[in-house]
Amino acid sequence: MVKKEREKNFQEWPIFDENDIEAMSNVVKSGKWWAGSPGDHSGENIWKFQEEFASFQEAKHCIAVANGTVAIEAALLALGIGLGDEVIVSDFTFVASASAVVAANAVPIFCDINPETFVMDVDQVEGLITKRTKAIIPVHLGGNPVEMDKLVDIAQKNNLKIVEDSAHAQGSRYKGKRAGNWGNAGTFSFQASKVLTSGEGGAIICNDDELADKIYSIIDCGRKKNHFSYAHFVYGTNYRMSEFLGALLRSQLKKFPKQHKVRNETATYFSERLNKIEGITTMKPTPGTTELGWYIFPIVFRPEKFGGISKEKFFKLLNQNGIPTDNCYPPLHSLRCFKEIKLRKGIDYSNANWGDLKSNNKNFPIVSDIYSRCIEFPQRILLSEKKALDKVFDFISSLKK
Ligand SMILES: Cc1ncc(COP(=O)(O)O)c(C=O)c1O
Repeated sequence: MVKKEREKNFQEWPIFDENDIEAMSNVVKSGKWWAGSPGDHSGENIWKFQEEFASFQEAKHCIAVANGTVAIEAALLALGIGLGDEVIVSDFTFVASASAVVAANAVPIFCDINPETFVMDVDQVEGLITKRTKAIIPVHLGGNPVEMDKLVDIAQKNNLKIVEDSAHAQGSRYKGKRAGNWGNAGTFSFQASKVLTSGEGGAIICNDDELADKIYSIIDCGRKKNHFSYAHFVYGTNYRMSEFLGALLRSQLKKFPKQHKVRNETATYFSERLNKIEGITTMKPTPGTTELGWYIFPIVFRPEKFGGISKEKFFKLLNQNGIPTDNCYPPLHSLRCFKEIKLRKGIDYSNANWGDLKSNNKNFPIVSDIYSRCIEFPQRILLSEKKALDKVFDFISSLKK
């Protein structure tokens, strides 16, 4: 049976309607396929999207960029992070959280996770700080916020910058503040599977006027707002977003609050049910979280309660039974690119807590254990009817031995 038919009980992704098609077609017809510059607009969509997304995320500034990877790189560069600086990154995330650090010529240092919330264990951060440490990248995995109040205290005490990788955390709120507003800057991804998407795309939010100007220069060829467009003041490159993506995102953003609310309600229901199955635990929202982006819904199982089944077999069985599931991110320290210390010429990686024997799972015990037993459901499952989620519960219960 084809996958689409097998998964017919679950919401498909992306969700689009006539408004999205009209928004795109209006850009085509306008002939303004490029946003232009802040002082000399060609199209209006990027500029309006930046305002609308900043307002939704409750930030002062938003700068739209080509994707969530360059969003992190640009934020680091604007904060002055560079050659040989160390940046502490959660070990349980997509490779981009660390590859952006490498792109900025800095050195990622991996931090193990909290066994219940699966995000950076803030209590381990101070132990990783050296004289070379300049920044921290907390990743709100699946939208689950890192304990940002504690992390901000550590950063202030040690004079470190924070870039919150909020690629999964559109709409997340921790202790009253939306994700991306706790640190110096917050970065987002609008890649195809994300909760707010235009296929590709990214954004950086911040609340500091000077930093916003610096980020703008970096992503637009070193230009300054309202200056001659062939004047290039600082080193920069072209990480701009196209008008088409801006138009689609504006249209998708209108649908987002309702979807976000449904995801949060359904996630509570789904968690309550799944935690009743002995041997299954779900990702616990960090205490203090009132809204969660829910980009992924990870669960951890105890193989001995399921007849010693491997996790590959576990998620394959779910897939074969029409339940969309996947493996989750292999911890960064286990990735081939971080097994060998050959990333960029001329950078001193001697302090890195990865490479060769240092990349051994034993040095990252929590994330290695969680990864070995963790699978994830995509966010779209949370937009499905409750009876479809009940089937997931019934199927997993039926695998109990
Ligand atoms: C945690 C995290 N950070 C950064 C990114 C990079 O985003 P993009 O794919 O838009 O470059 C992703 C993408 O999946 C991600 O999951």
